[in-house]
Amino acid sequence: MESDIHHLAGAEREDAIVHVDCVSHRYPDGTEGIHNMCFSVYPKEIVTLCGPNGAGKSTLIEHINGLMMPDKGRIRVFGMDIDKKNVSAIRKLVGLVFQDADSQLFSPTVMDDVMFGPLNLGLTVEEARKRAEWALDVVGMKETNKIPHYLSGGQKRLVAIAGILAMKPQILVVDEPTGDLDPSNAKRIEDILRSLRDEHGISVVIALHDMDMAARLADRVCIVRGGSVIAEGKPEDILYDERLLQSAGLEMPMVAKLFTDLGLKSKGVKRPLSLEQLIPLIK
Ligand SMILES: Nc1ncnc2c1ncn2[C@@H]1O[C@H](COP(=O)(O)OP(=O)(O)OP(=O)(O)O)[C@@H](O)[C@H]1O
Ligand SMILES: [Mg+2]
Repeated sequence: MESDIHHLAGAEREDAIVHVDCVSHRYPDGTEGIHNMCFSVYPKEIVTLCGPNGAGKSTLIEHINGLMMPDKGRIRVFGMDIDKKNVSAIRKLVGLVFQDADSQLFSPTVMDDVMFGPLNLGLTVEEARKRAEWALDVVGMKETNKIPHYLSGGQKRLVAIAGILAMKPQILVVDEPTGDLDPSNAKRIEDILRSLRDEHGISVVIALHDMDMAARLADRVCIVRGGSVIAEGKPEDILYDERLLQSAGLEMPMVAKLFTDLGLKSKGVKRPLSLEQLIPLIK
């Protein structure tokens, strides 16, 4: 196992913009959603939370913008403790796109839905409409007068993402962003997430099981199992550690599998994380 993978101490690094410090949360029915969870987000990074169903990814994510409160432990966002006093300020900084897009859409039209967040932030109707038009254009959603309920699953996902983008958060948290998207829309969302980091300096947290997508996008990968982050590190370390991934019920990404199985490992060659990086090595 790689030596620099496991550094899971709860200590807060000075540059952390989110610090989840040993947080536990038990649901009313007694299920422990997360347990002793330690997790941080740093400026201008894409960090992926990878773990099997029921690992605690969504539960963690909903703590980051104060939608859920910890039973134990502490969460700080931009230096503010998440508590009743700070929660509304924190929600303006952390935009959360839910796993279930349906639970995010409720207005009569797509346009109203995407304008809702900016209006809530206190923008004028005109400003909110401009933000909404920009965000809908970014995700490529043209049917702005449609009733959200009648959209397809993938279209709902795009509108839900637009609704959060329109608020221009400092941290974007997305829960399984591409599960129901076709390949071209999935690629569009991947490109948007990258450009938010590169052009807008936003940090992006993504929960997903798609290890290929994690390989293409992540600056840092956290493996979640049984309610805790059990390992974190660079994608070229974590996503090539087959034993670790298997212990969390996950698979190596396709590029890592091919690189390993084809015996391409040789001194000085950087482990590829995308097909574009792998193909020249095969050739
Ligand atoms: N509302 C709830 N009431 C009771 N238990 C819940 C609730 N929501 C989640 N849980 C439980 O908490 C644990 C973590 O669930 P969570 O939804 O955070 O997992 P996840 O990693 O997001 O999974 P998935 O990949 O399926 O989305 C699971 O055991 C789940 O059954
Ligand atoms: Mg989930």
